[in-house]
Amino acid sequence: MIKLVYVSLLNLFRPNVTIMQQKLVVFTGAGISAESGIPTFRDANGMWGKYDAMKLASVEGFGEDPQAVLDFYNARRKNLLEVEPNHAHRVLADLEKQYDVTVITQNVDNLHERAGSSKVIHLHGELTKVTSSRNRLDPNCIKEYPLDVPIRLGDKVADGSQLRPYIVWFGEYVDNMELAIRLVKQADIFVVIGTSLVVYPAAGLVNYAHREIPKFLIDPNDMKQGLPFGFQHIKMKAVEGVDELLRRLEGLKNAEVETSDELGSSLRDF
Ligand code: OAD
Repeated sequence: MIKLVYVSLLNLFRPNVTIMQQKLVVFTGAGISAESGIPTFRDANGMWGKYDAMKLASVEGFGEDPQAVLDFYNARRKNLLEVEPNHAHRVLADLEKQYDVTVITQNVDNLHERAGSSKVIHLHGELTKVTSSRNRLDPNCIKEYPLDVPIRLGDKVADGSQLRPYIVWFGEYVDNMELAIRLVKQADIFVVIGTSLVVYPAAGLVNYAHREIPKFLIDPNDMKQGLPFGFQHIKMKAVEGVDELLRRLEGLKNAEVETSDELGSSLRDF
């Protein structure tokens, strides 16, 4: 009997080659970095329980009290020097040996890159970079900035404006969103790790994955908005959850090989 599993026609005839080429898209949030020691935003002890997001992560907040905003981000930039990627980041990097992996992250840390992931799309900016406070997206002003050097009031960029962190603040345009949507639409397998899925437009990405591809969500908690349609919930922390993910991916591969063998023999009989 031919089992109904998601497998493209291409994969059926070249299973070994095409498993390498399967597009595995991973969408991550603060939860994946929690076990590296970076607090999430909305859990107990989360950052937005202690600090006011609208004061520290909005253009209006920066206008009102730029020093407070710079202090907040300078502390987070410095903290990045004290944390390391964890097993979950490393497993995703390692999956590049088997899949065409793209990581789309809401995180502004650089732990995916430091773990070795080669394709990382940041939706909400990067702590390692600075930019212009006149035009955040001016390519002439976006540059790497040493994490141990605080951004100070009075530091200027090429256009003469105040230096600011290269972060997408509330109310600002999420410039990588179109690219992220395109990548999720092309995914053969979609994995979501450690995000509460409450911040839009990023949270909307879960709706763009093809209905019939395998979809996994790793998060130790129930999703407040309910589990998105078609997802298998691996209800574990990221570090443990990625090992379960590996087991389930292995299961998918075996199912594909079985299906291709069965289809191959039924085609020969035909
Ligand atoms: P949240 O703090 O909103 O959600 C974190 C999620 O991670 C929750 O669903 C937790 O259950 C889960 N979690 C906690 N510990 C975990 C662990 N060890 N392993 C796996 N999951 C765990 O963070 P985000 O969804 O990333 O934006 O927040 C989205 C955006 O809101 C952020 O990018 C940030 C914030 O405001 C900006 O600052 C622009």
